[in-house]
Amino acid sequence: MQITIDHKNIEVLKGETILETARRSGFEIPSMCYAQGAQHKSSCMVCAVKNLANGQIIPSCTTKPVEGMQIESNSEEVKQIRTMSFELLLSDHRADCEAPCSMVCPHGLDVEHMLSLYDKGAHKEACEIIKGAFPLPQISCDNCKAPCEKACRRGNIDQSVSIREIIREVVAMFETAEINPVDNRKIDKKLFQSRLGRFSESEKQRLKDTTSTPSGCLHCACAGSSDCKLRSYATQEAIKRPKYNVSSELPIMDRKQVTENMWFEQAKCIRCGLCVYNSKNGFTFKDRGFGMQVYLPEENRKNVSTHLADLCPTGALYLAKEIKENTSGN
Ligand code: SF4
Ligand code: SF4
Ligand code: SF4
Ligand code: FES
Repeated sequence: MQITIDHKNIEVLKGETILETARRSGFEIPSMCYAQGAQHKSSCMVCAVKNLANGQIIPSCTTKPVEGMQIESNSEEVKQIRTMSFELLLSDHRADCEAPCSMVCPHGLDVEHMLSLYDKGAHKEACEIIKGAFPLPQISCDNCKAPCEKACRRGNIDQSVSIREIIREVVAMFETAEINPVDNRKIDKKLFQSRLGRFSESEKQRLKDTTSTPSGCLHCACAGSSDCKLRSYATQEAIKRPKYNVSSELPIMDRKQVTENMWFEQAKCIRCGLCVYNSKNGFTFKDRGFGMQVYLPEENRKNVSTHLADLCPTGALYLAKEIKENTSGN
């Protein structure tokens, strides 16, 4: 069977969808709720293309080509619809891709990483990170106005984390000669940044009641950011911030342990259903419309495995160890 994509004749292989034909032929079409070889249903519309025969905008990930079909995949109209679809996904996505403290440190210290080591009691490793950012760690923050503490999320709840004091405390624990500096993870500030924004009164209360790290840090950076498709497409599409102001009802920073090393955060979930359709008696949907949530009944926990984290297109379902669980009872 032959179709055209952007006026090029393309041979369709048996069983392929338009998206699969297009990608095999070198066309770039984004996708979020589709994963190769996995069960899925169209829900996000970021893979939109136009059928020129009837002018319809269709999801390329589920539509099967028919003989002679003429597809437009790269026009301004199609691109605008994709951008709108990404903006909709992001409109109730309340999470920080990077911790604001790390974003603003003029020395490029990955403050959140250093604090996560401190909170685990890994003081030497925390010191190695500090030494990697400051040539003279003993005086590292002395002349700095601490924008990290001003930007700290915890300050929106009660008191910012005393980042400079913790840096001094950690450095004082060691003779710096015995510390081998390690390079900080360099934060790419040009990447798309999803932002948590300010907390509501009930969110503040919940976070106050559930966060008990030694430093007070909320660890607000997204632990699933390294392979988040949402972030990488949003960067590619140059999306600055969601256009729509739908306030999310989903519990923010609500980390639930799913298996020994897999975690789930509802507020980062785009309800694509990949984890639902690809786990038997595992994840399921709860409620409908804007309030719809992905949910794992307690008795289904034993039925989920870590391959779901690979399928998840965002940082909602991710693999990590030793994160403190925050629960809201949702
Ligand atoms: S809560 Fe922790 S990670 Fe978040 S901004 Fe404050 S110090 Fe950084
Ligand atoms: S899930 Fe993706 S877009 Fe959302 S906070 Fe994490 S990295 Fe950013
Ligand atoms: S957890 Fe991930 S895979 Fe599951 S519905 Fe949410 S975004 Fe999709
Ligand atoms: S990738 Fe096609 S509708 Fe989501």
